[in-house]
Amino acid sequence: MANLYSQAEADRLAFWSAQAHKLDWHKPFTQTLDWSQAPVAKWFADGEINACFNALDRHVLAGHGDRVALLFEGEPGDTKTYTYSDLLVETKRAANALLNLGINAGDRVAIYMPMIPETVIAILACARIGAVHSVVFGGFSADSLRSRIDDAQAKLVITADGGYRKGKAHALKEAVDHALSAENCPTIENVLVVKRTGTEVVWNPKDIWWHEALAEASAEHVAVGFDAEHPLFILYTSGTTGKPKGILHTTGGYLTGASYTHKTVFDLKPETDVYWCTADVGWITGHTYVIYGPLANGATQVIYEGTPDSPTFERWWQIIEKYKVSIFYTAPTAIRTFMKLGKEIIEGKDLSSLRILGSVGEPINPEAWQWYHDVIGNSRCEIVDTWWQTETGSIMISPVPGAFKTKPGSAQRALPGIKVGIVDENGRAVEVSTAGSVAGYLTIDEPWPSMLRGVWGDHDRFVETYWSKFTGKYFAGDGARFDEDGDIWLLGRIDDVIKVSGHRLSTAEIESALVEHHWVAEAAVVGAKDEITEQAVVAFVILRQDEIADAPDEESIGKILRAWVTEKIGAIARPRQIMVVTELPKTRSGKIMRRLLRDVAEGRPVGDVTTLADSSVMTAINDKLSLGAND
Ligand code: WT7
Repeated sequence: MANLYSQAEADRLAFWSAQAHKLDWHKPFTQTLDWSQAPVAKWFADGEINACFNALDRHVLAGHGDRVALLFEGEPGDTKTYTYSDLLVETKRAANALLNLGINAGDRVAIYMPMIPETVIAILACARIGAVHSVVFGGFSADSLRSRIDDAQAKLVITADGGYRKGKAHALKEAVDHALSAENCPTIENVLVVKRTGTEVVWNPKDIWWHEALAEASAEHVAVGFDAEHPLFILYTSGTTGKPKGILHTTGGYLTGASYTHKTVFDLKPETDVYWCTADVGWITGHTYVIYGPLANGATQVIYEGTPDSPTFERWWQIIEKYKVSIFYTAPTAIRTFMKLGKEIIEGKDLSSLRILGSVGEPINPEAWQWYHDVIGNSRCEIVDTWWQTETGSIMISPVPGAFKTKPGSAQRALPGIKVGIVDENGRAVEVSTAGSVAGYLTIDEPWPSMLRGVWGDHDRFVETYWSKFTGKYFAGDGARFDEDGDIWLLGRIDDVIKVSGHRLSTAEIESALVEHHWVAEAAVVGAKDEITEQAVVAFVILRQDEIADAPDEESIGKILRAWVTEKIGAIARPRQIMVVTELPKTRSGKIMRRLLRDVAEGRPVGDVTTLADSSVMTAINDKLSLGAND
């Protein structure tokens, strides 16, 4: 591994070219990086490649067709195993079904699905024919789905009658119907529906059953190569404004980053390892470390449909024991939840197959790291704390197993091939030796293959958000510091993005959802520290006196507004608490001072109020807030 660091150090582009050459190219590339149109990079631009061919065909052609690709565990306990050959046959059928529906290369396909094998197949089928998938997390509301379909001008939605979550069938098709109702989403020509739960669904003229479409489709399909820079997918993520951004990833560079990091960080041995990443495919972690990374590397992996508590909190550990999982990748929120429950949950479970444990999505506090290491890993496993983002496409900062000693709570070093830095407000580098623990802004200083290529339909926003703060560097939006050894400690977001259970939410988006309610005149949302979920959504609202003359008491108002946010965005954005106030703290220029609201939400004495236009506002808010959580 030390080798990788020195190779990348010696010649970064040659290093990346070597990583890309591990993939199968329909037409080899001759140029590694074209940065002449920065910040839009072109990697391996004259090459042609098919992402699905790399995920499936090449393993079958290499004689590994009988290797298990997916070990599916449904929440109710049903199971299904797919070898690489099985997955290839199904994906070819699905690709033909999409072609039969008139989907062409470059068309956008929205995927709104539970965690089932058909989701993997649908994604790979899109990639196979060059259609651009836009996966929308199944927990997002109909409204969120509609705005994503419209933004990407998708032609097709692939969904299911439902999925199992927390012991119940959770309706998905109904949300699609709602998103498409009243002639909304005019670009959608068809809806493909996988039958999963058997829940009765309303049938509309555009609807087609997945199993029928696949049964009619041929199982023969030859994958062709697409330009390396052909769009592979769009994935919407929250930013600092109300509107989610469609992050665009392209084929050759993304796949290079996904496969290289998956192999390196998890030390994957495809012949013997059983890998399990608990992320939903609705997030980038699911794209890179459930779909493209593991499959490009020929891994055997578990996918589980449901939640960790179904039917009890023992479920995950039973799955690890049952399938002899050796590499496990999850989020700190889950680890903290289990830590709170105590080590009894793993009592009697044989977790001795585990050898690498990964963490992602938010900073992992040293206590949770230690617990993960000692209790889950029985003090024998390597822990990899992986920092990256939807935009970076693949892991940027993480220990590499065996390369150096790990440190609880620090993601440590940029991976070989990645150059990161920490700068102060003026863009000056924060030096390791002098700094000790001076905090700054995390930047990525050189282009990398899996970097985002843009924000769908909004080039200016792409430049403005990521490339304007520090000249020539990618601004990540995170605070970070070096310790004396030069190891990196991530300090969380420094913008108005918050992380709740590892999910990324925009305070502005929740605020605009709240003010859409006719009772709400103004809203301010903050992320308050939470023991389990890292941050929790706390909203302060000013009500419209004229509208709420006959409104119920504050507690019911809180309940109704929380349900409203669920309907507008999804349950993940539902505020933990809603506080009704008569004024919000603002500066003289009218900017809401969230820092003060965070103090209130976290139960701290309120900080410096001297820049407020009216400093009595905070006293009024504080006096009123003897209120508890709405739950
Ligand atoms: C934000 C990106 C990366 C896949 C899942 C989240 C935070 C992510 C870590 C980590 C500290 C982390 C950052 C980042 N984050 N991993 N290991 N340590 N913070 O992707 O939804 O795009 O969120 O998640 O704040 O900016 P995402």
